[in-house]
Amino acid sequence: MSNRDNAVSWPAHGGQATALLQRFGLPANHAFEDVSANLNPLGPPKWVAAWLAQRFDGLSRYPAPDYRAARQAIAADNGVQPAQVLLTNGGAEAIFMAAALHAGGRALLLAPSFGEYARACSAHRLNMTEHVLHAPHFVCEVDDLLEKATNADVVFLCRPNNPTGTLMSLDTIKALLAHTQTTATQVVVDEAFIDLALGVDALTPLMERYPQLILLRSMTKFYTLPGLRLGYVLASESLITTMAAHQPPWSVNHLAAELVAPLLADRAFARQTQQWLASEQPRMTKALKAQGLDVVPSHSCFFLVRPEAAKRIQGMTSARLFERLLRHGVLARHTYSFPGLDGDWLRLALRDGPANNRLLKVLHDCLC
Ligand SMILES: Cc1ncc(COP(=O)(O)O)c(C=O)c1O
Repeated sequence: MSNRDNAVSWPAHGGQATALLQRFGLPANHAFEDVSANLNPLGPPKWVAAWLAQRFDGLSRYPAPDYRAARQAIAADNGVQPAQVLLTNGGAEAIFMAAALHAGGRALLLAPSFGEYARACSAHRLNMTEHVLHAPHFVCEVDDLLEKATNADVVFLCRPNNPTGTLMSLDTIKALLAHTQTTATQVVVDEAFIDLALGVDALTPLMERYPQLILLRSMTKFYTLPGLRLGYVLASESLITTMAAHQPPWSVNHLAAELVAPLLADRAFARQTQQWLASEQPRMTKALKAQGLDVVPSHSCFFLVRPEAAKRIQGMTSARLFERLLRHGVLARHTYSFPGLDGDWLRLALRDGPANNRLLKVLHDCLC
């Protein structure tokens, strides 16, 4: 059975543990370590639990309609004006709002990339074209990108890209911005994982020169708060005004909005995460390769991997490895739902040191 045929029976989203356990005939209480979700394993910061409990009363009030304090904190953190910030219900709402700006228009998406761009474009009736990034390096060829962008109203980029972990170069982004200024194409860069990438140039200084640039951020990955829902948009003042006019009222809950400033002020947590990433990321890249995996060089807290060619020829496909890992108590992210990957790869998220060592041990058992 080819990987493509096989895709039919895989759940569309990776982290659907119940469906995946059922698919492989495993009991609902089968214990596993989840490396399918890309979240900072050091978070949430320890103080958040007590902080939330103390503010329980806040739930009996409506949030401040303009989220002023949160927007000021984000603006100061990014060197922009508060009027250039829109607080959103996670990065996901920001993606749908960016697509809504071009309802009925034409979008250029990269593939493989995060699936919500296509869902958002489809929800807002955009006509989609794909710019395919090819394995094994998934590099974006600039000439081809510019040509395709010419006919688009909006281009969605993900930096670093989920699921490849690759980072589009600053030169390519500048070339795209210079080009799209002449074609009136908007460039949306989803930077949900930017805080989990080290030594990366910020795009915020480009916003003044290129008002068609929109940056989308998530605070759920870095602070490990996906259940709280928190994200934001950085854009020109006029674009933020337009987007805000279309946002449902009180889209971000009171506790999430109040948490923005203290989270951003927690420099110790940010430093600790960066130090951990700086040592764990290269250590795991090396160790995963040593297990006989192809590893796409990653700029974030997750890795796209597949068994090396020799192992694949012997029948150790990513689908088989996924199943073995699950039976051994590790839930990886399959890639059937990522156009251009079609299940040929698996995505593994970094966890803390001991959990990563357990993953390496299980991989060793599964691959040999
Ligand atoms: C690239 C990317 N952007 C945005 C999001 C949405 O994040 P949030 O939880 O903030 O909605 C995700 C979530 O997985 C993501 O991978």
